[in-house]
Amino acid sequence: MPAEDAFYIIVMGIMPYIAATIFTGGLIYRIAIWLKSGQKSQLANPKKSSIIERIINLFKGLILEIFFLRKVYKGSRKLWLVTWPTHIAILGMLIGHSRLVAELTPIWNAFNMTQEDIEFFSGLSGSIVGVIMITGLTILLLRRMVVKEVRAISVLDDYVLLVLLLIIGIFGMTMRLIPEAHVLISEEIRPYFVNMLAFNPWPFIASASNPYFAMHLLIVEIFMIYFPFSKLIHVINITVSAVIKGISK
Ligand code: HEM
Repeated sequence: MPAEDAFYIIVMGIMPYIAATIFTGGLIYRIAIWLKSGQKSQLANPKKSSIIERIINLFKGLILEIFFLRKVYKGSRKLWLVTWPTHIAILGMLIGHSRLVAELTPIWNAFNMTQEDIEFFSGLSGSIVGVIMITGLTILLLRRMVVKEVRAISVLDDYVLLVLLLIIGIFGMTMRLIPEAHVLISEEIRPYFVNMLAFNPWPFIASASNPYFAMHLLIVEIFMIYFPFSKLIHVINITVSAVIKGISK
């Protein structure tokens, strides 16, 4: 078997399952450890407020922490001005990636969009979120390398996470901006991706084989394997804390 074929088979046919297993298992393990720790005592707080109040608190906490990054805002406005757009761009990018699974037909229909409009809109919005994400990550990485006080408290994990996300973003943007790297979502990538989710990627690997896509996917897989053991687990901790606080207040 040519080495190139082996590369695609490993990255597109085997590693997605290894990455998904380690990602899920790692998350369950980290959340279980975290719930066993001191945080658990919050659950035992007397529940003085009504269930409605607690649910409102829960949503307020989640929105403020996840969508507005309240903790960062309170800590440093300057940092928030970079971190917030970067996070919103990552969220936009994740929403855009839903096209990997299905065409967003109801949305296109609601705005009477033609095929040309759809291509234009997704091309423009994807490029905007990609540029904001890459710019934000680059600023955050440079800040860690250049600002003395931040460099002093930075550990390898901080750099690894930023670099992995940055490389993923760069390969993603390459598929958009460089003609020879371009992929056809509905004809090549979606059939592979949907069948990969259904545990039958093999017949679809050849037509989706593209070195830029494969590299994008490979770094995503490395990121997924690394995520549960990294500092980024704070995303999950913030969510779980907000839920616990919201319910137990
Ligand atoms: C951590 C997860 C991921 C990140 C941070 C990420 C990031 C990006 C970025 C920034 C872009 C360019 C802008 C855009 O199209 O939104 C992109 C494009 C792309 N990504 Fe991802 N991605 C991730 C996961 C994935 C996965 C799991 C797949 C498929 C298996 C995938 C497939 C693609 C494709 C096909 C494009 C090109 C889109 C186009 O040209 O229209 N990405 N990605």
